Amino acid sequence: MLVARSRERLEHEIDDYLVIERDGMVIGCAALHAFPDADLGELACVAVHASYRGGERGERLVEAVEQRARGRGIARLFVLTTHTAHWFVERGFAPASLDDLPPLKRETYNHARKSKVLIKALTSTTSA
Ligand SMILES: CC(C)(COP(=O)(O)OP(=O)(O)OC[C@H]1O[C@@H](n2cnc3c(N)ncnc32)[C@H](O)[C@@H]1OP(=O)(O)O)[C@@H](O)C(=O)NCCC(=O)NCCS
Repeated sequence: MLVARSRERLEHEIDDYLVIERDGMVIGCAALHAFPDADLGELACVAVHASYRGGERGERLVEAVEQRARGRGIARLFVLTTHTAHWFVERGFAPASLDDLPPLKRETYNHARKSKVLIKALTSTTSA
């Protein structure tokens, strides 16, 4: 379901990723990609190992990305998803349009995937 990512791209963006590890194995991940000159960040690559789903790990990953984003002064997070829109809506994301994306993301949007665009405004807290 996720966009394929080359090893080179993953190595380049590795600092964007948060992972949950269990017994030395990565069982969950999520990434925060920042966009220069935009107050928007991208929540990407949210995935939990199939054997470990339903334990709120996905939720914890999203919360950790949100906290990281707040700490960097990012006001809103967007996510592109093909199959999981409902899950994100339940976690405060709302349907948005391509026009809401940073220009760089809009230009590289893969129309063949028909991903839905969802956005969440991050309320400021002191915990960031
Ligand atoms: C979406 C995903 C990350 C959730 O991980 P998780 O650790 O199970 O997350 P949580 O435990 O916090 O949430 C589980 C709840 O979401 C529900 N859920 C899971 N996938 C869902 C979906 N596609 N749509 C709606 N609800 C979904 C589960 O039924 C469960 O509900 P319950 O608590 O009422 O039983 C995981 O299902 C996954 O890796 N999916 C495949 C990758 C994917 O689609 N990623 C998003 C790409 S942008």
